[in-house]
Amino acid sequence: MKNIVITGGAGFIGSHVVRLFVNKYPEYNIINLDKLTYAGNLANLKDVEGKPNYKFVKMDICNFEAFYQLMQDEKIDGIIHLAAESHVDRSIKDPFTFARTNVMGTLSLLQAAKLYWESLPEGYEGKRFYHISTDEVYGALSMNHPEGIEPPFKTVASSEGHKAYGDDFFYETTKYNPHSPYSAAKASSDHFVRAYHDTYAMPTIVTNCSNNYGPYQFPEKLIPLFINNIRLGKPLPVYGRGENVRDWLYVEDHARAIDLIFHKGRVAETYNIGGFNEWKNIDLIKVMIKTVDRILGNPEGHSLGLITYVTDRLGHDARYAIDSTKLQRELGWEPSLQFEEGIEKTVRWYLDNQAWIDSVTSGEYERYYDEMYNR
Ligand code: NAD
Ligand code: DAU
Repeated sequence: MKNIVITGGAGFIGSHVVRLFVNKYPEYNIINLDKLTYAGNLANLKDVEGKPNYKFVKMDICNFEAFYQLMQDEKIDGIIHLAAESHVDRSIKDPFTFARTNVMGTLSLLQAAKLYWESLPEGYEGKRFYHISTDEVYGALSMNHPEGIEPPFKTVASSEGHKAYGDDFFYETTKYNPHSPYSAAKASSDHFVRAYHDTYAMPTIVTNCSNNYGPYQFPEKLIPLFINNIRLGKPLPVYGRGENVRDWLYVEDHARAIDLIFHKGRVAETYNIGGFNEWKNIDLIKVMIKTVDRILGNPEGHSLGLITYVTDRLGHDARYAIDSTKLQRELGWEPSLQFEEGIEKTVRWYLDNQAWIDSVTSGEYERYYDEMYNR
């Protein structure tokens, strides 16, 4: 597979995947296909812009004809599909946009790929449709150990003395049970991808990953939003009691897993990706406060008063926790970064890149695109 489309490459995770592929595989043609919604930002990829094996195409994944044409023009043999509406709170306010992009957009890509690949003499030989999904499709796990218990596994990502807050985990075999419009739309898209394998024998793979954190995440998500608010001395809106648990993975470790699975994963399989690194929101928020205060030279505890408990998210899932032993066992993947190290790096990145935060939240990146591509 040499001619590869990465959809959603201008977003948070997509930009890390594009950067990894462009730098690691000079012999590939990497096409970053992105609509540049509010969440897509070409400034995430300034360092790869001029590389000969990289091309950006502005396109909506729902545009079937345009994508079918691109498949033919570029002789695409691999698709890594990340483009999506990704923010749960937005899905609660505007579910239609989520159904359109996440469901219809994915279906549109699948159908265009099917028509093109089936028209080739070699058919599906050497082709791959890799769909990036989320652990949220599995629903919510119970918090039957609210004080925390010794977790079944430790990884590099697991923080010092970390805990599990329940004795169940999401496995590849866990039944889908999505709750939010976002996760319902992602679940639907996962089913369509599997249906294209089961019905047409398209070589597909699906992975379901836990919460990512790191540079270039749009500052509406918990970690970048709170780092920025602590810096500015603004309130930190904690949903409910801050007791919900999320399982955090450094974004570059997710990108490395995607690279490995795209090349070596077994067709028609599902792989869970996560680092066994559960955190209650409120504990994670306290770590961010401590880290930002230390780096900014504030006295310890200075920003704790910014914590503001607000009305809970509707249908707020209690706990996510991924079991990724299948990926570790089959393909030897391991997270590379310890959580405390990852948080330190992340906090420093956002504090050092205020101009990036300002530009992605001001719409400047739209103008940047127009100037860059003269449209
Ligand atoms: P993001 O919101 O940062 O980026 C999404 C990208 O998709 C943006 O560049 C946006 O412009 C593009 N896009 C949106 N609608 C489009 C459309 N109709 N046509 C073309 N491009 C469009 O999202 P992210 O956090 O980087 O997530 C990427 C993928 O990974 C998503 O599929 C998401 O469900 C999945 N995922 C995310 C996480 C996480 O913690 N962020 C965890 C697991 C899985
Ligand atoms: O689990 C993977 C998912 O992780 C991805 O599929 C999603 O695309 C990604 O957005 C993320 O979803 P979450 O809803 O878990 O992430 P978010 O950063 O929005 O919220 C993390 C937790 O923090 C969640 O329990 C809600 C809470 N929260 C969030 C925000 C934005 C707050 O308490 N206050 C906030 O202001």
